[in-house]
Amino acid sequence: MKKIIRNGTIVTAAETYEADILIVDEQIAAIGKAFNEDGAEVIDAAGCYVFPGGVDPHTHLDMPFGGTVTRDDFDTGTVAAAHGGTTTIVDFCLTEKGKPLSEAITTWHEKSKDKAVIDYSFHLMIGEITDDVLEELPAVIEQEGITSFKVFMAYKNVFQADDSTLFQTLIKAKELGALVMVHAENGDVIDYLTKEALANGQTDPIHHALTRPPSVEGEATGRACHLTALADSQLYVVHVTCEQAVKQIEEARKAGADIWGETCPQYLVLDEEMMKGPDFEGAKYVWSPPLREKKHQDVLWNALKVGSLQTIGSDQCSFDFEGQKDLGKGDFTKIPNGGPIIEDRMSILYSEGVAKGRLSLNQFVDVTSTRAAKLFGMHPKKGTISVGADADVVIFDPSVKRTLSASTHHLAVDYSAFEGMEVVGQPKTVLSRGKTIVDNQTFVGTNGAGQFVKRSKYGEPLKQQAALSK
Ligand code: URP
Ligand code: ZN
Ligand code: ZN
Repeated sequence: MKKIIRNGTIVTAAETYEADILIVDEQIAAIGKAFNEDGAEVIDAAGCYVFPGGVDPHTHLDMPFGGTVTRDDFDTGTVAAAHGGTTTIVDFCLTEKGKPLSEAITTWHEKSKDKAVIDYSFHLMIGEITDDVLEELPAVIEQEGITSFKVFMAYKNVFQADDSTLFQTLIKAKELGALVMVHAENGDVIDYLTKEALANGQTDPIHHALTRPPSVEGEATGRACHLTALADSQLYVVHVTCEQAVKQIEEARKAGADIWGETCPQYLVLDEEMMKGPDFEGAKYVWSPPLREKKHQDVLWNALKVGSLQTIGSDQCSFDFEGQKDLGKGDFTKIPNGGPIIEDRMSILYSEGVAKGRLSLNQFVDVTSTRAAKLFGMHPKKGTISVGADADVVIFDPSVKRTLSASTHHLAVDYSAFEGMEVVGQPKTVLSRGKTIVDNQTFVGTNGAGQFVKRSKYGEPLKQQAALSK
């Protein structure tokens, strides 16, 4: 199978240039001009950018949470991701205390294998460190190719791990070659503040935000950074929302610590006021950490620009407004946390970032694709346009103006957190390992075509196949 993408402007994290791309089977075989078109399918990208497929390092598909299960699974979630220009996701595999890690990994493979339309991998949650867990970890890395561990510092009595678990995970990760990820909020303080709020009759969605103030995130972020330095290990802080947390990461990086930070589109464009909406509408905007006051948005944009934060995850974790979010009517602590973002992640970053002059085109590619591929052991197979890389390619039309809406998105969930938002730019055609999966905004992919990506150890490149001949 041969394809030629012609007349587009190729954008990578490092360069912007005009050239054609020759794809042979699943890989990029050559980049240049005047390829022999005999038998090749030609895709015209005139007037469009040609980006590497997006890499979303933070999704929750088919995940049980808050007494329910996310509305979108590896079918609808990855179809929506494909429409949004994302061709690789890394989903969080939840483990249970006292049960083998391998059981959780098997469950996540079962959830994904016949459904995913794009490539995927898993991060593994570590909830406790026991002899059995320590015994299993080398195989998780060497055999399963899962090279990132997630520790929750919040969600007391559900996912929360203690500091001893975090510290031991950091030490083990350093020894084995894994990257530790943290959800950084102080779960014990939140537990106290939420009980106090409910006792005072404060039950509306806005109290979700008021009981998880920025300093609760800043404190946990700082603690995780200090423990990482002490363990001489490596850390990735997921969904950073506020100045207090950014400052902790900046300080730790300045002191030489190996620490990385992610933020998400919702924290860049939505704010706490949304949680005060009438008729329980505020529940649509319940995330943990919560949306913040508007002033934090500039801090986050600037952190992306100067490199204090390096990636954009979606934190896709959708629940219907009717039948799921409304479990928390009369008690905000019962609102399932999370929202639908997987499809709009790249478009919001392009429109609010590049089109508004906050990020360069190359920075856009870096934060939405390349950096995550590098940090999570998938580069240069994923996250770039280069000879030998997987032909995961997005042909992006920057001239389109459109309105984000649940009536046009491809998720199963019944609302959009970005309803009515005007954006410029749209992924037009998307290729996953050489196969067209979105053709002029129409989905043409196949369930089960997505492959599990076994990732390399932290800091090591993923081996490419030999460059193909033309
Ligand atoms: O509210 C959120 N973020 N839901 C998903 C789970 C998590 O904490 O990432
Ligand atoms: Zn989280
Ligand atoms: Zn998450």
